Amino acid sequence: MNTCFSSYRSLFPVLGDYVHLASCSQGAIAQPISKAIEEYHASLLSVGTNWEESILKVEATRKKFAEFINAEPDEIAIVASASDAISAVATTLSYHHTKNRISLTDLEFPTAGHIWFAQKHHGADVSFIRSQNGMLPLEQYEKEVTECTLLTFISHVSYHNGFTQNLKKISNIVHHKGSLLFVDAYQSSGQVPIDVREMNIDMLCTGTRKYMLGIPGVAFLYIKKELAEQLQPRHTGWFGQEDKAKFDIYNSIYAYGAKRFETGTPCFISIYAAYEALKLLLNVGVEHIHSYLQDLGKFTREFGIANGLKVATPTASSMYSGMTPFFIDEASKVEKKLKEKRILVSSRKDVIRIAPHFYNTKEELEYAINELVQLVK
Ligand SMILES: Cc1ncc(COP(=O)(O)O)c(C=O)c1O
Repeated sequence: MNTCFSSYRSLFPVLGDYVHLASCSQGAIAQPISKAIEEYHASLLSVGTNWEESILKVEATRKKFAEFINAEPDEIAIVASASDAISAVATTLSYHHTKNRISLTDLEFPTAGHIWFAQKHHGADVSFIRSQNGMLPLEQYEKEVTECTLLTFISHVSYHNGFTQNLKKISNIVHHKGSLLFVDAYQSSGQVPIDVREMNIDMLCTGTRKYMLGIPGVAFLYIKKELAEQLQPRHTGWFGQEDKAKFDIYNSIYAYGAKRFETGTPCFISIYAAYEALKLLLNVGVEHIHSYLQDLGKFTREFGIANGLKVATPTASSMYSGMTPFFIDEASKVEKKLKEKRILVSSRKDVIRIAPHFYNTKEELEYAINELVQLVK
C-alpha cells in the first residue's frame, strides 16, 4: 500500500530486510543519519581533530531541538541520557520540609523511581500518583498533588501501556497547587507534537534513539529560562560554565539558562546523528506523523483484538499513541522468536509492544500480528 510517506521508505535500509516495529526502543536508522555518523568518523580519520566543527554541530543541534519543541536554544541542555537529565534536576532541587514532595506516576519508566528515591536521603518525600485501570484520570492529579508538592514528574506517553496524557490540562492543575511540572517525553517525542510554551511545561527530557530516529549517547533537557536561571546544578562541569575557554579553576560561573546543566565533552558522534534526525523529522512534520500513527495504532489494536490478542492499552481511553502493547506470556522469548522471522518488536515485562513509525505500513502490521498470533497459539 502506498502511504503519503512511501517515498521515505527507501531512506531506511533495514526496511528491505526487516519489518521494523520497535520505535519505542530503537527507531530505524535513515541514510542521512548514517552518513552523518560516517562524516564524524571520517573527519577523525582524515583530519585528526574536529573539535571546532563538533562544537558548531552541538550548537546547531541545540537550535534544532529548540525549534522541535518550540523553546529557545538557551532553554536546552544536551546531556548523555534521559536518566542523566532527570538526575541533573533531582540533585539540584532543595527539599525543604514544607515543600519537599516529588509526585510521580506509577506509569513511569523505572529509572524515574530509582532517581527520585535516591533523593530521599536529601529530604525528598517521594509519593506515587496511582493509575486506575492503566489510566491517570485528571482527578488523580487534583487529589495527589498537594501544596507540599515541589515537582510533579510524569510521562507524556507511558513506555508500558502507551497511555498518552494531556499535558496542558495537567500543567494547569499542578501549577495551581504550586508544583513544577517535569515531563518525560522519551516515548512521545518524534511521534506526538510537543509545544512546551503552549503546554506550559517547566522541564522536559527526552533521548534520541526511539521515535527521534537517532542513536544512544544524546538526550535533551529543556528547562524554562526563568526557572533555569534560579537553579544551581550540583552535578556540573566545564561545559556548564559561562565561558569554558577561560580555563579558570578558581571561579565557577554557570552558563546562562539550561546550558548550565551540561557537564563534560558530549558524545559528538551521537549529536551528528541527532542533528540529521531532527532535520528529517522537521521535514516530514510531527503533526503528520502523529495523525498517521493514530490511524496505525487504531488498526493494530483492532486487528490484534480481532485475532484474539489482549491489548494492554486502556481501551476506554481516547488517549492512544502509535504504540500498542499486547499481553503475551514470556514476552521476551516471543520477541526473540519474532526477530528470527525478521520482525522487530520490543517486549517489556508482560507485553510485546508494537511500535510503528511513519515509514511503516498497515500490511507490515497485519503480517507481524499474524505471525505473533501463530507463535502464541
Ligand atoms: C519513557 C522513558 N524514560 C526514560 C528512559 C530511559 O532512558 P535513558 O536510558 O536514556 O536514561 C526510557 C528508556 O527506554 C523510557 O522509555
